[in-house]
Amino acid sequence: MKKTILILCVIFFTAAFIQAQNAAGIRTIINHYAARNFLPLPVSQSDLDQIIRAGVNAPSARNAQPWHFTIVQNAELARRIISGVTDGNVLIVISAAGDSRTNIPEILDCALAAQSIYLAAQALGLGSRIYTAPVAAVNRDLKNALSLPRDHSVVVIVRIGRVEQVDAASAASSRKAPDSIVTYKK
Ligand SMILES: Cc1cc2nc3c(=O)[nH]c(=O)nc-3n(C[C@H](O)[C@H](O)[C@H](O)COP(=O)(O)O)c2cc1C
Repeated sequence: MKKTILILCVIFFTAAFIQAQNAAGIRTIINHYAARNFLPLPVSQSDLDQIIRAGVNAPSARNAQPWHFTIVQNAELARRIISGVTDGNVLIVISAAGDSRTNIPEILDCALAAQSIYLAAQALGLGSRIYTAPVAAVNRDLKNALSLPRDHSVVVIVRIGRVEQVDAASAASSRKAPDSIVTYKK
């Protein structure tokens, strides 16, 4: 009898734990925000490993996985990509072969990898922000400095860093009301 109760307790708490984990996952996806204020503190290698794993595991059309991830931890190089970037921030530069302005499948795949990286960082309690504004200048001036794979162009950059907690400046801006952009066809 005692054994049965123990087994039931283990099953109950395992189920509750899994449900709590799942709830945390959906919370990260819904409540993300693009960080503005980063702290000048390093990102740990174990966090970075998990964030990179999230990017590497992203879905892609025909599972082509066309991307390359260049992890910029050098502060001087990072500042050439995003001026004024905070010390300790890591830039994950996502590139693919061809022209990153016109290769739609590669752009979509790299965008999904960027989203996975962006959300993984926030799931770990870090701040993150996606960037495309610097891409043209990086492709023009910094391909060699980044040692990109041959024929690759940068598609998107994700900035990762330590943050305090969500402050007024960093909190997510408002979104369109679902009613105005969602149509059900039943
Ligand atoms: C494809 C893409 C490109 C972006 N490029 C930049 C950028 O170049 N510079 C920047 O400061 N933020 C950039 N952002 C961040 C957006 O401005 C931000 O995600 C959006 O305003 C929503 O922010 P919130 O979630 O904090 O409300 C980009 C976001 C996306 C998805």
